[in-house]
Amino acid sequence: MNELIIAIDGPSGAGKSTLSKLLAQQLNYVHLDTGAMYRCVAFAAMEQGIDPDDQERLGTLAQQLKIELVHTLSGDRVLLDGSDVSTAIRTPEVSLLTSRVSAAPQVRKALVALQRRLGEAGGVVLEGRDIGTVVFPQAQVKFFLSATAAERGQRRYAELVAKGVTVSLQQTISEVVARDLADSEREHAPLLQADDAVVIDSTNLNIDQVLTAMVEVVKLRRQELK
Ligand code: DC
Repeated sequence: MNELIIAIDGPSGAGKSTLSKLLAQQLNYVHLDTGAMYRCVAFAAMEQGIDPDDQERLGTLAQQLKIELVHTLSGDRVLLDGSDVSTAIRTPEVSLLTSRVSAAPQVRKALVALQRRLGEAGGVVLEGRDIGTVVFPQAQVKFFLSATAAERGQRRYAELVAKGVTVSLQQTISEVVARDLADSEREHAPLLQADDAVVIDSTNLNIDQVLTAMVEVVKLRRQELK
């Protein structure tokens, strides 16, 4: 049997990054963080002083940038035109800008093409907002991971503090809510749950519990496809 394409969608802070990494490790699959790609475009636009409303220029930028997601022994790194931007793309400023930049259809077109190229062979776990609906509607396994905004804000806050970024909890929760709204209401590829996605609400579940549930779903799906 061919290796599967696994889509993990959901709002920010629902645990997608942690769980998609763990699931990929467990299955010996490649992990693709598509949010990191959108963040790279926003970061490069900021560095180059590009107006976030200039969708044409953003689209050209997205096509020209060389974005690489590399797996190293010390963790995943994001390289933008060869420079390590793994930390630089995670600041609250870049997060907010990414929400705007990712609404541009020209940007989405360039990145969706890249994601399809990287994922089409299967054996891959892709995390994002539109993987199961737009990028790979034919994915054999689709998860939609959610949690309440307060819980997701708290998790994101703890993550940022651990990385040495100075932020306030209240501000982080407000940003989660603002990004949810922007991601859900944008015209192109808004955050949507695929009809055939397995929905997991992680508000009261720990990482192990969610991972176990996901692995179980993958096992069942493999049996169905045999
Ligand atoms: O998952 P993340 O927080 O790193 O995503 C950053 C931003 O990129 C977020 O505002 C949503 C957007 N995004 C998107 O529009 N489509 C994706 N497939 C992944 C992320």
